[in-house]
Amino acid sequence: MSLPEIPEALIHAVTCAKRIAILTGAGVSAESGIPTFRDALTGLWEQYDPAELATPEAFARQPDVVTEWYDHRRQMVLNCEPNDGHRAIVALTDLIEENGGAVTLITQNVDRLHQRAGSRIVYELHGCLLNWRCSNCGEQAVENGPAFETYPPICVACGGHRRPGVVWFGEMLPSDALAGAVAAAEQCDLFMSIGTSGLVEPAASLARLASAANAQVVEINPEPTPLTREATWSIAASAGVALSALVEAVRSDGWASPGEVDKLTG
Ligand code: OAD
Repeated sequence: MSLPEIPEALIHAVTCAKRIAILTGAGVSAESGIPTFRDALTGLWEQYDPAELATPEAFARQPDVVTEWYDHRRQMVLNCEPNDGHRAIVALTDLIEENGGAVTLITQNVDRLHQRAGSRIVYELHGCLLNWRCSNCGEQAVENGPAFETYPPICVACGGHRRPGVVWFGEMLPSDALAGAVAAAEQCDLFMSIGTSGLVEPAASLARLASAANAQVVEINPEPTPLTREATWSIAASAGVALSALVEAVRSDGWASPGEVDKLTG
């Protein structure tokens, strides 16, 4: 596959940035074989609307259906591997850090593939599909094993219904992750929005927050989104291909020396 062209000005922005914030969405995991959130309902699940399954009301009404769907996704995630996009984010982070800068990774994904690729600190805005907790007593456990035997899975401590540790529509985001994400967006020189449709708040507003604080914004997505026209650069390519090309371009273009970075960013 031919590599997308990476604008010189973007390479320059990356090499000069002291702080980069990266927001990822389901598109980053698409090349690992995980369907995006809005494409997730195929086969048996075709009849359901994902936005309607991902609610506390759906869980209260049909705990069997909701937990089986999430367990099906959990099994899929456990059988997938991180892809070039996840790995390129790790490589980019290492490059920036070696040059004295910092990268904050924020994700809407619940699949833990960034961590499995080697990203150390990740703000998970929508929780994690592998953490399950009792909706009654709150007992928590990481679930890395085979499919549950019953739906909903039952809490051994109290007999309550267990649920995935993801954030559903209408629920609060984890306050630490959200605060970290907002601070990163407000303080970055470059904001990268990768593989997200930009339809779900508050994640969708992070790019605008960064832009309002004078950061440059790059979007990587094969399809246009509401952010496309507002971004400084928009790269219409898959995350794995575009991020690999970006890392390659940054490496081969000659990195600005730390002294030069100081001069350029004041
Ligand atoms: P979506 O499923 O809404 O959007 C996925 C985006 O990825 C789309 O814009 C695709 O064009 C793009 N895409 C597909 N393949 C790609 C690839 N190979 N490389 C790059 N981009 C690609 O997923 P999100 O935007 O992540 O929240 O959705 C955000 C939130 O909506 C989810 O976390 C979920 C859902 O509501 C909750 O469940 C609370």
